[in-house]
Amino acid sequence: MTPLSLTVREPDDFHLHLRDGRSLEAVVPFSAARFARALIMPNLRPPVCTTEQAREYRARILAAVPAGTHFNPLMSLYLTDRTPPDEVDRAHASGFVLGFKLYPAGATTHSDAGVTEISRVYAVLERMQEAGLTLQVHGEVTDPDVDIFDREARFIEVVLAPLAERFTGLRIVFEHITTRSAVEFVLGARPGIAATVTPQHLLMNRNALFAGGIRPHHYCLPVLKSETNREALCDAVRAGSSRLFLGTDSAPHARAAKESACGCAGIFSAHGALELYAEAFEAIGALERLEGFAAEHGADFYGLPRNTGRVRLVKAPWTVPAAYPFGDDELIPLRAEERIGWRLERLE
Ligand code: DOR
Ligand code: ZN
Repeated sequence: MTPLSLTVREPDDFHLHLRDGRSLEAVVPFSAARFARALIMPNLRPPVCTTEQAREYRARILAAVPAGTHFNPLMSLYLTDRTPPDEVDRAHASGFVLGFKLYPAGATTHSDAGVTEISRVYAVLERMQEAGLTLQVHGEVTDPDVDIFDREARFIEVVLAPLAERFTGLRIVFEHITTRSAVEFVLGARPGIAATVTPQHLLMNRNALFAGGIRPHHYCLPVLKSETNREALCDAVRAGSSRLFLGTDSAPHARAAKESACGCAGIFSAHGALELYAEAFEAIGALERLEGFAAEHGADFYGLPRNTGRVRLVKAPWTVPAAYPFGDDELIPLRAEERIGWRLERLE
């Protein structure tokens, strides 16, 4: 019997961490093999704050793309309390910067240079609104007294909803949403607001953090949530809203940094990202929604042309390696030594 297969428009990953140097070289080929374009996150050390830094970083990414593969890295600049409003004009003129990433200071990996108080960036947001650049938001409050499972919902209440009302023309992507509250906010919001959804938040709930023992490779931020919240995300992508699109948040960390007494947040999924989404969409009976989510809604939101190539997914399970090389260290991929139900073939 021929295996089930699915041909879709070449997809884009609108939320990707590639790091730099030898780590960058180790992970770029995985994304370039699957996605035509990706929006690259700026949380390097030091962060990518200016258009000039993004231009240089982008050149390093392009240099790591394997010969014969086309991959267009699009950039997000790291917003700080001190970002000058005229950086927006330079970003806009560049043609490769899609927006600015708002990390509330202290919310996640390499976010210490982030925004300490949202009113400090109002002038920049004003200019972004005029220029049509997008604000990519890590939507969690940082107050350590707020329960970690409630930080996204609280962020909507105290930061995001008021912001969306204050800047009624600002384009906003609520990144890596994880809760029913976020789904309801995005689906009910004014035009110009959308969200990315990761494979891990569609496929796993918080039990996966403790399955058989503590599982550092399932730890990311926002942290995995309850089954009810996972189901809300699944229901929303199954319904096919054009406000929801693919952003893996693939976030590689060296094995030693993950398997530690204080392990880093981040799940590496780039080695099987589209295949994992196919699995998630199949599980909810919505394979026909994969193409819109992976290849159309994001491009349309950002005003980019849809890709014209095609990729084919075949329902043929494969076993993920135990680790991949990562500079002097190694990288433990999502599903290490376990199977992913779909395999990718590129058509052109
Ligand atoms: O799990 C995460 N890892 N969440 C983030 O917000 C950042 C990312 C990283 O850069 O490692
Ligand atoms: Zn991220």
